[in-house]
Amino acid sequence: MRFIRNICIFCSIVMSVQGWAPKQPEERELTTNCSNMSLRRVPADLTPTTTTLDLSYNLLFQIQSSDFHSVSKLKVLILCHNRIQQLDIKAFEFNKELRYLDLSYNRLKIVTCYPLAGLRHLDLSFNDFDTVPVCEETGNMSHLEILGLSGAKIQKSDFQKIAHLHLNTVFLGLKTLSHYEEGSLPILNTVKLHIVLPMNTNFWVLLHDGIKTSKILEMTNIDGKSQFGSYEMQRNLSLENAKTSILLLNKVDLLWDDLLLIFQFVWHMSVQYFHIQNVAFGGNVCLDHNSFDYSNTVMRAIKLEEVHFRVFNIPQDRVYLLFTKMDIENLTISDAQMPHMLFPNYPTRFQYLNFANNVLTDALFEKPIQLPHLKTLVLKGNKLETLSLVSYFANNTSLKHLDLSQNLLQHENSENCSWPETLITMNLSSNKFSDSVFRCLPRSIQILDLNNNKIQSVPTAIIHLESLRELNVALNFLTDLPACSHFRRLSLLNIEMNLILSPSQEFFQSCQEVKILNAGRNPFRCTCELRDFIQLEKNSEGMLVGWSDSYICEYPLNLKGTQLKDIHLPELSCNTALLIFVIVVIMLSLGVTVAFCCFHFDLLWYIRMLSQWTQTWHRVRKTTQERLKRNVQFHAFISYSEHDSLWVKNELIPNLEKEDGSILICLHERNFDPSKSVTENIINCTEKSYKSIFVLSPNFVQSEWCHYELFFAHHKLVHENSDYIILILLEPIPLYCIPTRYHKLKALMEEQTCLEWPKDRRKCGLFWANLRAALNVSLSETREMCELQTLAELNEESRGSTVSLIKTDCL
Ligand SMILES: *[C@@H]1O[C@H](CO)[C@@H](O)[C@H](O)[C@H]1NC(C)=O
Ligand SMILES: *[C@@H]1O[C@H](CO)[C@@H](O)[C@H](O)[C@H]1NC(C)=O
Ligand SMILES: *[C@@H]1O[C@H](CO)[C@@H](O)[C@H](O)[C@H]1NC(C)=O
Ligand SMILES: *[C@@H]1O[C@H](CO)[C@@H](O)[C@H](O)[C@H]1NC(C)=O
Ligand SMILES: *[C@@H]1O[C@H](CO)[C@@H](O)[C@H](O)[C@H]1NC(C)=O
Ligand SMILES: *[C@@H]1O[C@H](CO)[C@@H](O)[C@H](O)[C@H]1NC(C)=O
Ligand SMILES: *[C@@H]1O[C@H](CO)[C@@H](O)[C@H](O)[C@H]1NC(C)=O
Ligand SMILES: *[C@@H]1O[C@H](CO)[C@@H](O)[C@H](O)[C@H]1NC(C)=O
Ligand SMILES: *[C@@H]1O[C@H](CO)[C@@H](O)[C@H](O)[C@H]1NC(C)=O
Repeated sequence: MRFIRNICIFCSIVMSVQGWAPKQPEERELTTNCSNMSLRRVPADLTPTTTTLDLSYNLLFQIQSSDFHSVSKLKVLILCHNRIQQLDIKAFEFNKELRYLDLSYNRLKIVTCYPLAGLRHLDLSFNDFDTVPVCEETGNMSHLEILGLSGAKIQKSDFQKIAHLHLNTVFLGLKTLSHYEEGSLPILNTVKLHIVLPMNTNFWVLLHDGIKTSKILEMTNIDGKSQFGSYEMQRNLSLENAKTSILLLNKVDLLWDDLLLIFQFVWHMSVQYFHIQNVAFGGNVCLDHNSFDYSNTVMRAIKLEEVHFRVFNIPQDRVYLLFTKMDIENLTISDAQMPHMLFPNYPTRFQYLNFANNVLTDALFEKPIQLPHLKTLVLKGNKLETLSLVSYFANNTSLKHLDLSQNLLQHENSENCSWPETLITMNLSSNKFSDSVFRCLPRSIQILDLNNNKIQSVPTAIIHLESLRELNVALNFLTDLPACSHFRRLSLLNIEMNLILSPSQEFFQSCQEVKILNAGRNPFRCTCELRDFIQLEKNSEGMLVGWSDSYICEYPLNLKGTQLKDIHLPELSCNTALLIFVIVVIMLSLGVTVAFCCFHFDLLWYIRMLSQWTQTWHRVRKTTQERLKRNVQFHAFISYSEHDSLWVKNELIPNLEKEDGSILICLHERNFDPSKSVTENIINCTEKSYKSIFVLSPNFVQSEWCHYELFFAHHKLVHENSDYIILILLEPIPLYCIPTRYHKLKALMEEQTCLEWPKDRRKCGLFWANLRAALNVSLSETREMCELQTLAELNEESRGSTVSLIKTDCL
């Protein structure tokens, strides 16, 4: 006990606090749920602020007068499904705010009354009362709306005490009923009366009185075996004072004859809407159906749901026709395993027919059916196969709404369809339709559901569905969004769960009216083609239903599982025209830059020099070995004009010799032997040098070349290898300035590229590099041997001779 109480305290702490009116803390709703805890007593330590207390499904057997004193704020108290036998309602005298008290499913025999003025809902049904527990005080509960009662005996005098109350619902949950005083129920003043019948009652008496009692009458547990003893009783019922317009029968198990009698009885009553739910019937048929009196009724709608046939011994036709001849506004027979349906061969007034979840086949439309007023037809969950048959049937009606979902429907291209122009909505979902279904659609259709079929594409040659606003083609096999050329008004498109890899442009161009698009859960291929689609959501936010969770890449594999919103497809990589444009722009600017460099920095000169440099380098390597075999003492012999001597001394020599003296140079001044003639000296020098450098300038040509012309013209070495000569062009020399007799010079200048001395100082680096490359022979192999020899010779030759610069003018 202690343990259970603790649980209950715990559950009060884990209370659900509903703060929907949080004006003051005390006004909060506080629920303490102690349901199904095997409690034998009401817990003593309830939270005082509890407003809702659930003590249902426990073992409570009595209520003490002090049990609920502590919970003065209590509004809702649930005590159903306990074992309480006796109750003094005075126990709730301090619960002034109590408005809901449920004491159903106990073992109450005695209730001591006490006026609870605020009570709105009092349930005493399914107890063991001998007489219905209504007392004077009940009559003073002026706010009472819902009253649940029970009792083995029902008599007028009990109900008299509450006759003045305007109740909403009276619920009679009867375990047994041993005595019913006729005329008792009609004393009640209530909108709805719900009777749960016990076995062995007289159904007819209660139905009769019930119909006179309330606008809405519901009767549950109707058992043909124990409640339908006397047909006579039914015959003697009077038709006066009937109030019920809505009659519901629930959990019905009857002989067909009894059901027929109920229909016949109700037919002439005030009932307009008759609903039978969860009904089983069968048995032999004794009554003559043709005697059913259809005349004189206010009935408008009949609904039979969850019908189970017992062993049944009458021609089905009679059953079908019993209903269809009723000729009312609405008829529903659903979940009834009904294989067929027949209609009378004259026009009927039906506006709404619902035969959902039966086993109807195309045979339904075998015979012409005349339903000129039919607005809604629901045939979902049947076994229909041919759409064109439905269309021919529909053409004779004024059908607006047609539900053919969950059938086996197909459409062959060869078949013609003929729909009425009234049709607005069609549900063709969960059938076997292929693309051809678009050839069998009414022109007037506005809402079309083709979800879960076998459609692969929307054919181009179909009639124009000018009114179509909503199209659902989810769960098909479409590989692209449809173009809207045939349904220009389309504003809602559901194309979820198809096979769309990348939507084509056509949709975006033709479907301007589409406001809501659901294209989620398709196997998107996240490449450039998808850019427009992703852009769609960015441009019109909220247009794509299920964005972004349902839009996921399937291909390429490295992007599988990525949401479309996270895909980055740059404009450049997707737009070919733009790409070409950018490339062209880059090429152009590159060209302009190159041209600018050529023009401004004399790039061509650099290139020329570089190529010379590399050429020289190769040549040098090739000829080095052979050349070194000669008796070489100097790297170069420099010949120049006196006029250029400044340049030679200040620029050329310092630059060539500047490093570690690795380049030895033979100069007029230093190495000429005055005892020999100029030409001799020259020959001597050139022979001892690896190369000869001529500093060409107009002056040089005019004054110096004469010494060389003859020599070069005949000298074998020069003939063999003109590499031996390096020409430096200090100033440009136009060819016409060269005297015609200097054939060799002309030839040299033509066949050899001259190193031009750049005017621009910045370019000198390359000039020197070029020149040094032409001279800088790796002498390493022969160096040691040659060096000793050359130095010895050199010393010997220049001993005692004064180095002087010899200048001779050519005559
Ligand atoms: C209390 O809990 C039970 C299930 O344990 C639930 O069915 C019932 O509705 C709850 N009562 C209230 C008042 O919330
Ligand atoms: C009560 O609890 C038991 C198990 O504890 C469960 O089987 C039963 O369905 C519960 N009854 C109700 C009415 O919640
Ligand atoms: C019912 O209320 C009336 C006045 O509203 C009062 O006179 C009468 O005594 C009350 N009856 C009971 C049983 O409380
Ligand atoms: C039926 O009504 C007639 C007269 O209205 C009466 O004589 C007869 O007893 C009634 N039958 C039953 C079964 O109440
Ligand atoms: C008949 O069915 C239509 C469509 O469901 C509904 O609007 C109408 O209220 C129904 N009529 C009756 C009398 O139930
Ligand atoms: C359509 O109704 C006409 C009479 O109005 C009838 O002759 C024809 O057979 C009906 N067609 C279908 C397919 O029910
Ligand atoms: C469909 O009905 C219209 C008028 O109700 C009629 O003119 C037309 O011939 C019918 N079409 C077919 C194929 O029965
Ligand atoms: C079509 O019928 C299916 C089930 O049969 C239903 O889920 C769907 O909502 C219906 N479509 C429309 C547009 O009413
Ligand atoms: C469909 O209609 C065309 C002419 O409109 C006709 O030639 C053809 O036979 C019809 N097909 C069927 C199956 O009735």
